[in-house]
Amino acid sequence: MTDYNYFIAARVIHILGVVFWIGGVAFVTTILIPALRKNIEGKQRLDLFELLEGRFAFQARIVTLITGFSGLYMIIELNAWERYLHPQFWWMHLMTLVWVIFTMVLFILEPLILHRLFHTQASKNPARTFAVIQVLHIFLLTLSLVAIAGAMAGAHGYTF
Ligand code: HEM
Repeated sequence: MTDYNYFIAARVIHILGVVFWIGGVAFVTTILIPALRKNIEGKQRLDLFELLEGRFAFQARIVTLITGFSGLYMIIELNAWERYLHPQFWWMHLMTLVWVIFTMVLFILEPLILHRLFHTQASKNPARTFAVIQVLHIFLLTLSLVAIAGAMAGAHGYTF
């Protein structure tokens, strides 16, 4: 494979990662949480959410790494570091920010703090806790979709 083909392979891997990862976030946000809030009560809701979100979190950790490494490889190949100095490349900042937020949540905050916090809060006040969880997911999904739209346009020549 030529260097250029390696670059294209990295782009393909990057996008497969994004599809799997943000697609999963979209499913949890627009289907799983609303369905649980509407149809399932009490402890069963918490158990089901932890089971399904827990499996997704495991997958998301792997995919986050793949997306991050393929993105890093592309920056190195493009020698595009100075893009971070220019506001018109806001989509590069946003992609990186989305990655940093998810990495912090999945690798540090969730295992150390959020898992226990969510469990105690959801046992005490399930309605409020699931409402908060839904708002946070909507926020992260929106940020991710704006990053995807900006990166698609920016990487294909749109000048902001
Ligand atoms: C550390 C994290 C990340 C790095 C270093 C990174 C880096 C890059 C680079 C260098 C490109 C190619 C830009 C170009 O061709 O001019 C790119 C493309 C792209 N990235 Fe990321 N990225 C990261 C995370 C993300 C995340 C979290 C998302 C989704 C929310 C994302 C979505 C995209 C999309 C949609 C493209 C456009 C691909 C195309 O149309 O060819 N990236 N990324």
